[in-house]
Amino acid sequence: MYLSREEERILDGEKGWAYQVAMRILVKLGDLFGADRLIPIESAHISGVSYKTIGDASIDFLEALGKSGVKVMVKSTANPAGIDYSHPEEMIGIFEVKEKQNRIIEIYRNMGIDMILTCTPYYVSKPKEDAHLAWAESSTVVYANSVLHSWTNREGGPSALAAALIGKTPNYGVHKPENRLANVLVKVEPCLRSEADYGALGAHVGRLLEDEIPCFSGLTCAGETELKHLGSAMASTGMASIFYPEASCPRVSGELEVVSVDMNDLKNAFESLSTTNEPPDMVYIGCPHCSAEEIKHVALKIEGRRVRRDVRLWICTSRYVRRKAERYVKIIEAAGGKVLSDTCAVVTWLKEIGVDVLMTNSAKTAYYAPTMNKVETVFSSLDRCIEEACQ
Ligand code: F3S
Repeated sequence: MYLSREEERILDGEKGWAYQVAMRILVKLGDLFGADRLIPIESAHISGVSYKTIGDASIDFLEALGKSGVKVMVKSTANPAGIDYSHPEEMIGIFEVKEKQNRIIEIYRNMGIDMILTCTPYYVSKPKEDAHLAWAESSTVVYANSVLHSWTNREGGPSALAAALIGKTPNYGVHKPENRLANVLVKVEPCLRSEADYGALGAHVGRLLEDEIPCFSGLTCAGETELKHLGSAMASTGMASIFYPEASCPRVSGELEVVSVDMNDLKNAFESLSTTNEPPDMVYIGCPHCSAEEIKHVALKIEGRRVRRDVRLWICTSRYVRRKAERYVKIIEAAGGKVLSDTCAVVTWLKEIGVDVLMTNSAKTAYYAPTMNKVETVFSSLDRCIEEACQ
């Protein structure tokens, strides 16, 4: 990969070992994937913030980086942490890890990263169309490429951090126009009604296509929320970075391979995402983190009702969206639900706070929670989730 003189000097350690490590990560990645050069990025989004997901070894590495005084070169945001500091009553049993979680947050903050602690940073500030980014967190990446029309590979936590510190990323993958073209036409036959239907479709297509780029026909009613659920599920069961609804799919030369999705495929996807029929002790909405619109939607469904005493209802979002939707947050919390920020059900410790069965409208959470959180899952629509919580 070609490096400018300045980039070579960083690689040689002239700016100190921390920037040198960051440059080495980028150069290794670039060489591995055949990048021709580094390109400037508009922003970075860093995953690997929850102490639960990164553990002690990563804290040591981050602490060493932080001590060297490194700063990010571009606007950078961070994914959810393991704790919601504003709802300690929901965190009983895990608050002893607070100190380690605090250390991680402090290190990133001192690097100049905006600790908004959300996987939907685009609700706080949208990147420009056609801007090159280095975002980690697969659901965020798919949304950026497919809905916001920005350009980012699926970065890991370390490569997103390295790109943030250098302000550049290697030019490969979906940073190149020729790698953003659809190669499969997915004909969706059933009429999709809920965000969970879109999640089930994403889980099915992700498994089927792995890293191929689908163009979907038949998504006539899909808004941004539905596309968010579709993309996050697809990126969980497969390696998707980008997809297209047919209306916005760029023309490709030649015929696309065609794959059809029928009712049976959706039913199987739903079934594969539930591991039990047992009643839940937590109902979870907010993966990926909710928009203000979604919070309003939940509030209108729950208004005047009461959450059962034996069920926790968690709605997760960012602090920014929580403030923006304050009026609806009050309605949800008056009914006995909790609108949490800074964390999510997957990156916190569910077993330790007494959850064994988790019901969710998120295909991504339903896919990950049995392994990441060791809980049973029930996957269903938002309507059913609210019914179950308030029954
Ligand atoms: Fe976000 Fe947590 Fe889901 S980070 S995408 S809410 S697993």
